[in-house]
This record gives sequence, structure tokens and C-alpha cells, in this order.
Amino acid sequence: MNLLKTKSYINGQWVSGKSRFAVTNPYDHSLVAEVEDMSREQCRTAIQAAHDAFKIWKKYSAAEKATILKKWYDLQMEHAETLAQLLTLEQGKPLTEALGEIKYGASFVEWFAEEARRVYGDTIPGHKRNIRITTIKQPVGVVAAITPWNFPSAMITRKVAPALAAGCTVVIKPPELTPLSALALAELADQAGFPPGVINIVVSSQASEIGKEMCANPLVRKLSFTGSTRVGKILMKQSVDTVKKVSMELGGNAPFIVFDDADIDAAVQGAIASKYRNAGQTCVCTNRLFVQAGIHDAFLAKYTQAVKDLAIGNGMEEGINIGPMIEEKAVVSVEKVVKDALDKGGKLVTGGQRVGEEDSLLFAPTIIADAQRGMQVFSNEIFGPITPIFKFKTEEEVIELANDTPYGLAAYFYGKDYAKIWRVAEALEYGMVGINTGMISTTVAPFGGIKESGFGREGSKYGMDDYLEIKYMCWGGVE
Ligand code: SIN
Repeated sequence: MNLLKTKSYINGQWVSGKSRFAVTNPYDHSLVAEVEDMSREQCRTAIQAAHDAFKIWKKYSAAEKATILKKWYDLQMEHAETLAQLLTLEQGKPLTEALGEIKYGASFVEWFAEEARRVYGDTIPGHKRNIRITTIKQPVGVVAAITPWNFPSAMITRKVAPALAAGCTVVIKPPELTPLSALALAELADQAGFPPGVINIVVSSQASEIGKEMCANPLVRKLSFTGSTRVGKILMKQSVDTVKKVSMELGGNAPFIVFDDADIDAAVQGAIASKYRNAGQTCVCTNRLFVQAGIHDAFLAKYTQAVKDLAIGNGMEEGINIGPMIEEKAVVSVEKVVKDALDKGGKLVTGGQRVGEEDSLLFAPTIIADAQRGMQVFSNEIFGPITPIFKFKTEEEVIELANDTPYGLAAYFYGKDYAKIWRVAEALEYGMVGINTGMISTTVAPFGGIKESGFGREGSKYGMDDYLEIKYMCWGGVE
């Protein structure tokens, strides 16, 4: 099966645009493919197709929807190696990580195929003798999904699988930097047997035009977005006139706290996993590493060694831990925060610069010690392989530091005292907290943030709620 697709997938057809644009490999800038560029009108056509298909799909029984979703899952697993290669070519992450993403992404499809059967309503005791009350849950309608380049496959399935399981139809706008993984998923969806119009993928270089159509079009009843807080706010504003249901998975500024009583080796391992996954380009990556004074130097020594052991290079090669960053402006942005930290008294322990040629997107895994609150590494989402290390003395101090941000996505801490574990976990103003682990992402748990990191939960038994409406029925005259 050929999974390298360059046309968009609308109403069960592969569709061309008026022009094309290039998708390049961030490791060596080579051309991976030229894809067809969809217009705003073509996006509108896709929304109409999804609207028409909704009339059919919403009537499918849970078992029927589950069967097709399960087939889609099986096909993703069968072609996992090919999907992973495509993902590494367009995104740059190491192949083993890409394979991990494909399996992680597919697991949402399997999970929600099962959850489709459990969309239960309630029977509520009536408020009068002759009244009975029931509730049912119904699909919201057409869902628009705007997904990010850092997880070109899994962020699609994490939104689309619950939407489809609920009975919604979808129009997906993948990022222009990494559309090929999305189109490969469309090919597999086609093979799985979804009726035309149930899944539509609109690839376009005109992100803001497509976003405007998705927000303004009254046929779209729900918008789900993963990306920056800045863009999330724009999409929310644009969705006001149609009073759309929205869910937002936005930026983060994750604290990772290591207390004096932590297992230092485990904390080093957890911090490396959380910080350097996808070259630091995930919204749950550790952003600020806080280490308590009593173990600071011992931790720093071990952490530095672990960072120096990371291999950076072409994600397609065996043994590589860190691939290129996604594009030039991402490298420029990390260069800026590193310079700012060093100008303000931070100490460069390792890394700090680009690796290779002038136009290379590889950035050396970096540690900055003696980091302070006034630095950009404290307030900005770094989104790159930089660890700023802050020394702290007390629990109260670190809680205040950790919460001093508008973001509230993920937080992590290592320590042993169980009373402190409860206190700290409760005090951290974040949607997700990793306790003695740096890896929190899983299909079975609710992923999502609070504050300016957004709202809505993806994955888990809660993941379908965002795609369902509750209808209440009041039954009178029951004499
Ligand atoms: C993200 O960075 O948006 C998602 C990361 C994850 O699912 O672990």
C-alpha cells in the first residue's frame, strides 16, 4: 500500500489544489514531497461533506462504529514501521520515538473503539410524583481539528478517535510542516471503510484562512485545537459568533522539582526523559528544573553526564536520541533564550549552540545552571533542548516559583516523604502531575491543562465528553 499521499482527502476523494508546496526533511532540508495546497473554499466543501455524512454516521450503532475504528487501529499497527519512517522524514524525531508515537496514536483509536459502547445516559428520580427524568448523550456534530507538527500522528488520533466514536464527523487541518503523516492516516481510514465525508483532511499553507473558516462556519459545532496559547486565543475569539464548543490544548511551562529526599538517579532519568523527548518540543516537556540545595551539586553532576551522553543527529540513524528542531525560527528562538539567560548570570554547563553547518537545525542539548526568575527561561515556553536549573531551599519557596506562570499543563516532582507528596501534588496548579516519573502521557489518563494551558481532556474515560451533548428528557403524566 502506498502511504505517501500528496492530495487532500475530502468526501472520500483525493483532491488537488491550484498549487503545491514543499515538505522538507528538517535534518538535511531535502525534499520529502510536494503536497497540494487547499483553499478556504475547499475547506468549506470539506465541512459541507462532513455535515452531510453526519446524518448517516450518527445513526451507526456503537458496535458498527467500533468495528471500523478497530480496523483503522489494526491497519495503523500493521503499517507502523512505514508510518514511523514517514514521520521521522517530515518531523525529524528519532525513528524509535516516531514508532512510539505511532503506537501511542493508534492506542487512542483502539481505546475509543471500545469506549464507543459505553456512552451511557442516566435515569434521575423525578421532582414530582408523575414525572420521570432520563438523559441521553448525543454527538455534537461536525468537529474541526487543528493539530500540531510536534506529534503529526498521535494528536490527530487523540482528537479524531473519540469524535468518531461519539458519532461526530471530522475535518482535520494538519500543520503544513508535517502533513504527510495525516494523509497516510487518511489512506488507512479509507481502507478501514469509513463512509465518505466522515473523515476529511485539508492540507493548506494558508493556516489562518482555514482557521477562520473552521471558526466562522456554523456547520462546525466543535473546534479542538492543540498548539500555542497565542493561536488558541485567536481561535477562541473567532469562535464566539457561532458559540462553538471548543477545547484547547495549549502551551506549558512545566516545573520539574527534585527534593532533597529524592532518588537522584531516578530523578536524573525522569528529567532526561521529560526534557529531551522530541528535542524538547512537546508541551509537557520540563521547562524549569528546580533542585533543592542539599542535593543540587550531586544532581547537577549526574544530570550533566546524562545530557552529554545523548546522541544528536539524523533521526533515521540507529542510536540517535535527539533529532533536529523543526525549523529555523525554532532554533533562533532557543538561541535567544540561551543568550538572555547567560547575559543575566546563568552558567553554561554544556551545549549552548547549533551543531553542524550554518543552516543545521540540530541544537546541542544544553544545561544552564544558576538560573533565576527574571530570565526568559523562567517565563517562556522554551520548546527546545535547553534545561535551566534553579536552586531552591524550601518547599514553600519552590511551590511559589513553580506556580508563578500563566500556564498550567504538566508538572513533575521527585521525593519520598508521602505527606509532602500529597501536599505538593495538591498545591501545584497544573492539570497533570508526574510524581517520581517524568513520563505521564498515556491513553488511559486524562491529558489536559488549566489556566492559559487550556481546557478539555483528551484520552481516558473522559475523552469523549468534549464530543457529546447531554440531552435531558422530562416525561410527564406518568400517573
Ligand atoms: C503535546 O506536546 O502536545 C502532547 C504530548 C503528549 O501527548 O505527550
